[in-house]
Amino acid sequence: STQYESILTSRPHPSVTLITLNRPKALNALSTSLFLELNKALFEADADPEIGAIVLTGSDKAFAAGADIKEMKDKEFSDVYKNKFLENWGELARLKKPVIAAVSGYALGGGCELALMTDIILASPTAKFGQPEINIGIIPGGGGSQRLVHAIGKSRTMEMVLTGRMVTAQEAEQWGMVSRVTENVVEEAVKMAIEISSKGQIAVQAGKEVVNAAYEMSLAEGLRFERRTFHGLFATKDQKEGMTAFAEKRKPEFTHS
Ligand code: CAA
Repeated sequence: STQYESILTSRPHPSVTLITLNRPKALNALSTSLFLELNKALFEADADPEIGAIVLTGSDKAFAAGADIKEMKDKEFSDVYKNKFLENWGELARLKKPVIAAVSGYALGGGCELALMTDIILASPTAKFGQPEINIGIIPGGGGSQRLVHAIGKSRTMEMVLTGRMVTAQEAEQWGMVSRVTENVVEEAVKMAIEISSKGQIAVQAGKEVVNAAYEMSLAEGLRFERRTFHGLFATKDQKEGMTAFAEKRKPEFTHS
């Protein structure tokens, strides 16, 4: 498989890709080249029929400490505007397969935003989330101000964005920003990815699509979209197999068709 400089990829199970951000000296600061590699690895896994889910992690000390400040320092408005700086960060949202973030240590600025772009966040007790951009004269630029409002509401988002305060894993859990706090967060995320991969992949993809639609649609439209997508799954072999296996008291063998 492809060799990368700023990330590592591995396959802890035939159905799971594990992507590890790997710029330890910069606390996994998200440079342009790191993000290009990350997108490449994500889309490679998304296209691989053997892979059912992706786990994204960093190091014990840092999931990622944000966009690369040293790279941004001398940029001018005309550069960032003309070159659509950070526009390619949004590509992650186009993946059809689920991405689970396993967060230990700092998830700051773009690191927090990257975690929020994934589908499920598991946090280790050491995780610290924050949007400290205000301390360096800017605001979040990777979606944090918008995705946090959906995840934790306006007041908490305002506090994070305007004070730059870091929140602990426990707070993030109470606020509903992460699914749960757990030791051995990468192992737990891989277990969850293996479990998701064992389901019918058309249904998994549809489940991700309808949940994400809730962010964009009115309730009535979202409910209609969910119902139509649900109806559509009755055209799949996996629905026949899943329900027949239940009635016959055996395990289903999904063929992802
Ligand atoms: N960009 C570039 N380099 C970074 C970095 C970043 N975001 N975060 C850390 N580093 C580098 C440090 O410069 C340092 O490098 P040197 O050894 O060459 O000096 C190395 O990583 C280790 O960092 P520290 O010595 O600072 O480690 P620490 O343990 O004392 O502190 C920290 C850790 C509190 C996370 C601190 O590094 C920090 O505050 N980092 C910046 C956090 C931040 O402001 N993030 C937001 C970035 S802006 C953004 O993300 C915009 C957006 O919305 C997209």
